[in-house]
Amino acid sequence: TWTTGSIVEEQVAEIRARVGGRRAICALSGGVDSAVAAALVNRAIGEQLTCVYVDHGLMRTGETEQVEKDFVAATGARLRVVDASERFLGALAGVTDPETKRKIIGREFIRVFEQAQAELIAEAGAAGDDVAFLVQGTLYPDVVESGGGTGTANIKSHHNVGGLPEDIEFELIEPLRKLFKDEVRMVGQELGLPDEIVQRQPFPGPGLGIRIIGEVTRERLDVLRAADAIVREELTAAGLDREIWQCPVVLLADVRSVGVQGDGRTYGHPVVLRPVSSEDAMTADWSRLPYDLLAKISTRITNEVRDVNRVTLDITSKPPGTIEWE
Ligand code: XMP
Repeated sequence: TWTTGSIVEEQVAEIRARVGGRRAICALSGGVDSAVAAALVNRAIGEQLTCVYVDHGLMRTGETEQVEKDFVAATGARLRVVDASERFLGALAGVTDPETKRKIIGREFIRVFEQAQAELIAEAGAAGDDVAFLVQGTLYPDVVESGGGTGTANIKSHHNVGGLPEDIEFELIEPLRKLFKDEVRMVGQELGLPDEIVQRQPFPGPGLGIRIIGEVTRERLDVLRAADAIVREELTAAGLDREIWQCPVVLLADVRSVGVQGDGRTYGHPVVLRPVSSEDAMTADWSRLPYDLLAKISTRITNEVRDVNRVTLDITSKPPGTIEWE
């Protein structure tokens, strides 16, 4: 039998013994797993850990700030935020194909991370230290899935699958590899991480880049961010955050529809709400949100978000639809 307290203690002791006087780095994604892994390693080795967060410009409202403020406030971890939005948006210019977008985002992420890594190694080297460890938030299901060899068809290229290039010589620290998601959340709580981080719903690594159907531009990202913030606010206010697995908001940027707003004709874009219920994201059902809540969301989005004049609801389960549209 184990308790979250004993897991933390055991891992802290083990990590301290392994790392000794050397250094470690950790890529933070904003998600639960990497945050908990980083907090745990930070508890063990403090200043010897540097976390790197790559802001690709495809984040939702408040996301980067949450990592910068809440995570650091809760853990005291040393954090380096790399603003790489220009680079990502440049690489995505003109691209509409979903898989191409995913590959570009994955590739740029690795490049930016490697660059930050090289800088840290150079700085540490100048101080006579060795950066020998890479922290990853690998969970038990990740281990099983990648080692299982079940031959599951690869439907989408997840940005972090395949991971970092093999020629980087790091020892991995994966303190969560025996745990399931709910256990990881408990460990996060034990480490004092706030609910905003620990209870977070899943959000894809490629971010809003795969929720804009069509080319990804700064303007379109702003439109989608505004609509998404309203949806999240209303779902939270309705107390549905735990019940709903996640609710992607998708901007159909290549589609226009006629509307009437104020006293004029508009020709704007539709957004799609994709609320789903799920146990593990392998299968999902569309969530039966209360009509009054849907009405409120629809009114707010069309009133408050420039360029959006229509709100639609996705009532497809997975399969046949995937959760994300791209
Ligand atoms: P799909 O769209 O395949 O999504 O039904 C299943 C779950 O995975 C999330 N997702 C991703 N997560 N990197 C991630 O870290 C990715 O590239 C990625 N693509 C999809 C999606 O949000 C859902 O929870």
